[in-house]
Amino acid sequence: MKHFLITIDGPAGAGKTTVSRMLADCLFYRYIDTGALYRAVAYEAKTVEISPDNDAGLENLCHAMTLKFIRDEKGTRLLSNGADITDQIRMPEITMLASAVAAVPVVREFLLNIQRDMAREKGVIFEGRDMGTVVFPNADIKFFLDASHKARSLRRYNELKTQPLEDVENDIRCRDERDSTRSLAPLRSADDAIIINSTDLSAEGVVELMLSDIKNAFL
Ligand code: DC
Repeated sequence: MKHFLITIDGPAGAGKTTVSRMLADCLFYRYIDTGALYRAVAYEAKTVEISPDNDAGLENLCHAMTLKFIRDEKGTRLLSNGADITDQIRMPEITMLASAVAAVPVVREFLLNIQRDMAREKGVIFEGRDMGTVVFPNADIKFFLDASHKARSLRRYNELKTQPLEDVENDIRCRDERDSTRSLAPLRSADDAIIINSTDLSAEGVVELMLSDIKNAFL
């Protein structure tokens, strides 16, 4: 079977990461979590105290950064300048900071090239916010995964259990707003994306729908 490039976009907590991982396992594909790349820039910026409104500082930071995904016995890990930062980038403050640096053009440009480089090998699923619209407008198949604000907040809350539900709801609302109203590559569904609402679906249910869409499109 030909190897395809599949994109999955959608807001925070819609289940993109779980579903991408499961779909990649079914298809024997690789999967790339592009949110982790934005989180990595946020994490490094925080470490050297560069604020999200310091464009020149972020540009220098990006130029000195090497990002690489590797697979080891713990699963997929993200290395920034050789250091494993996979766990550190999941902290709530990095989550909010990632959304802020993601609105900065030099950061998006830096990561655009990295993401396109990672797609040279086919048989890949990319998940993020602008995969189907900006980074891979010619992807073979595009999905947009959505769910109600309540369902997404509950999922994040159950996943992390580090913040009260109300805080998670507010953080998600704030990120949705910033990610979808920024001027560059805002979160939105590509015109040719298949939209799936996962509010009342299990991850298995979503993967089943996706597999059937992939079969219909290619077989
Ligand atoms: O998917 P995530 O929650 O790990 O993403 C963290 C932030 O990164 C998100 O709030 C917006 C940004 N992001 C983006 O702008 N474009 C992407 N392709 C992926 C993430």
